[in-house]
Amino acid sequence: MPTLSSSETLVAEPWRDYALLDSGEGRKLERFGARILDRPDSQALWARSQPTEAWDAADARFTGGKDEEGQGNWDILKRHADGTWPLTYGDVRCEAQLSGFRHVGIFPEQRVHWDFMEERVGPEFSLLNLFGYTGLASLLPAAKGAKVTHVDASKKAIAWARTNQEASGMAEAPVRWICDDAARFAAREVRRGNRYDGIVLDPPKYGRGPKNEIWRLEEQLPTLLADVRAMLDGGSSFMVLTAYATHLSAITLRRLVEDALAGLGGAITHGEMTIREEGSGRLLPTSLFVRWDRHG
Ligand SMILES: C[S@@+](CC[C@H](N)C(=O)[O-])C[C@H]1O[C@@H](n2cnc3c(N)ncnc32)[C@H](O)[C@@H]1O
Repeated sequence: MPTLSSSETLVAEPWRDYALLDSGEGRKLERFGARILDRPDSQALWARSQPTEAWDAADARFTGGKDEEGQGNWDILKRHADGTWPLTYGDVRCEAQLSGFRHVGIFPEQRVHWDFMEERVGPEFSLLNLFGYTGLASLLPAAKGAKVTHVDASKKAIAWARTNQEASGMAEAPVRWICDDAARFAAREVRRGNRYDGIVLDPPKYGRGPKNEIWRLEEQLPTLLADVRAMLDGGSSFMVLTAYATHLSAITLRRLVEDALAGLGGAITHGEMTIREEGSGRLLPTSLFVRWDRHG
């Protein structure tokens, strides 16, 4: 009978430009560089560990739906909180801004995967980043010399990623920015016989391609993973999948990856991604992951 390896908890620690200061009562308080933000979080059901004064320090507060997909608005509480501001991680600078759906252009919990990739990439390494958003998972490997193909359906996200590239002084870095539907692009790459050393994908639960192609994680992930498998080979090094706001279990995601990547060797791990709260040390769960690592 097959045995299932146990689930792992990946913990994103605070760094100079990011800290989870507190969480509770359905919200989280975070410091992103020079800004303190108060955002909804559907997991943070517990009591807060910091006094009200700590929350009063917020520069902006997002109010509206608690769901990841929820609509809402930013209330600017301090005058300087508008506009863009810089956030640095390693060699990369991200121009953060208060954007719709409560996001700011960076998912700090993803640092566990940025670090994982940075240890494995180098010059000539070919990386495919599907659903690449503002490009952190493209630019950090590119800063180590990797040749990156970055795919996102949103022109705005691609423009933001290019701004981050410029801000990082990486204008010459070998990144191909592609505005396309991720599933379509992957299918085309398979037909062309293209392969990659590493693939990272962060599909939303629901999305749309530039030509209104519908993306539904729970329906299309198996086909996309089959295409991911076809783009990996005996020389490939890793695959990283994350999923947010889904009712799917990490075990389900792992099973899908196991099926798709059967025969590739290496090791698969799965589990939850979390952020460690500064001070209290409590973990805030954010999302699920599955990683395949040839040398794991
Ligand atoms: C923000 S990231 C995902 C972050 C996180 N996984 C979440 O769901 O909140 C999602 C990215 O996928 C892009 N996207 C959505 N549908 C897409 C599609 N069909 N093809 C390619 N990119 C897509 C969005 O433009 C966005 O930049």
